[in-house]
Amino acid sequence: MKTKIAVLVSGGGTNLQALIDAQGKTLVSGEIALVVSNSAGAYALERAKKAGIPTVTLLKKELGGQEGFEAALVQTLEDNGIQVIILAGFMTILSEHFTSRYPRRIINIHPSLIPSFCGEGYYGLRVHQAALARGVKLTGATVHFVNEIPDGGEIIAQKAVAIQPGDTPEILQRRVMEQAEWILLPQAAEEVSKLYMEESR
Ligand code: GRF
Repeated sequence: MKTKIAVLVSGGGTNLQALIDAQGKTLVSGEIALVVSNSAGAYALERAKKAGIPTVTLLKKELGGQEGFEAALVQTLEDNGIQVIILAGFMTILSEHFTSRYPRRIINIHPSLIPSFCGEGYYGLRVHQAALARGVKLTGATVHFVNEIPDGGEIIAQKAVAIQPGDTPEILQRRVMEQAEWILLPQAAEEVSKLYMEESR
């Protein structure tokens, strides 16, 4: 039996797409059983539907805030027998109450070389803006386990990407995705799915 994965999304879902495309190739020990969005308009939902993956949308404002959202999320994950959770452009910080239920079972992709340009306030284009403003010559992406500290969990994999003259945050974001995120995330998903299978034998 494959490890059952839920991918949590908020936006465009290019990392979700990379995971979908990796199924049966890089990703063989796990299968994407569910996509959960915290935003009704997320294009990631379309990508999931096209791939025939069930989706659930959970809106904080309809669920009475963070606590209600997390309670509904736990219920949804349990109802679907989810074993591993992948945050792929998921824009909500999860509380310790939630993360402690899934030790070493939640992974996140962050578009910098942690510990640079990470933690609260560093998300989306802001990460790349900060890297360019600091004038670093190398950036990249990091996949890490998720605990209660934003971007603070154990690092699983990293890949460096060169900054080039004339880079804008948008150009850099795209290069980091193409050269690092879309490669690293499926590899890490496989690693963690395999680990789960071995540990639950
Ligand atoms: C990615 O850069 C990811 O690292 C960050 O948010 C972005 C999401 O992009 N956490 P997408 O929704 O996967 O296209």
